[in-house]
Amino acid sequence: MHKKVQLYEGKAKKVFATENEEYCIVSYKDDATAFNGQKKGQIQGKGSINNRVTNHFMQLLEKNGIPTHFVQELNATETVVKKVNIIPLEVIVRNIAAGSLASRLGLEEGVKMSTPVLEYCYKNDALGDPMVNEYHIYAMQFATREELAYIAEYAFKINKILIEYLEKCNLELVDFKLEFGKDCKGQILLADEISPDTCRFWDAKTKEKLDKDRFRRNLGDVSEAYEEVLKRVFGQ
Ligand code: TMP
Repeated sequence: MHKKVQLYEGKAKKVFATENEEYCIVSYKDDATAFNGQKKGQIQGKGSINNRVTNHFMQLLEKNGIPTHFVQELNATETVVKKVNIIPLEVIVRNIAAGSLASRLGLEEGVKMSTPVLEYCYKNDALGDPMVNEYHIYAMQFATREELAYIAEYAFKINKILIEYLEKCNLELVDFKLEFGKDCKGQILLADEISPDTCRFWDAKTKEKLDKDRFRRNLGDVSEAYEEVLKRVFGQ
């Protein structure tokens, strides 16, 4: 499969058309941003790590009955995926209080939630990705009731599968962000990425942060943390 015209460039990835209308190629960059693009930098090796970690999780999820956009890894930083229209929602699942949930509710980071928390944000950089609820989503026609019920069910299923897998890697899944899209047949597929950019991973024992919070909060050893996640996820 060959790259043709560039369809889109985001903050961390580029998307290219292919000779097949139903597929496109995602190309992961080392570029990193935080705080809605206000903080910019590079994380050495991030593109290839996020590509490999995402594809590993997508295949794990497929095996467990979750329909995803994954088709085939092409090389270190590029993957063929099914073309989808992205539903403009960030679907966030939280197991442990951290980040914006901790500040919004006045919780200490690290407090375990008694039940997983599901949140939605409207993907819109100009508005700073505001949080929305089901009623906003129906009224804005981002998804129907049936579609959102399906997305929520799959988000919780994905949480269970990932928690169980990551436990064996000595990693705690604190929280993560998912994106879903609709393919040419109207089927909803899990899309985008599942990586240290879009998840919070803590060492299960020391609670050391092994994700993009190292970049967001200037904690140092950013590339090393991404490398460590890659090694653990691949069982090394
Ligand atoms: P938050 O605590 O900053 O709201 O982040 C919740 C989760 O979502 C965390 O795992 C990081 C991820 N995330 C993204 O993938 N993209 C984003 O733009 C933001 C703000 C968070």
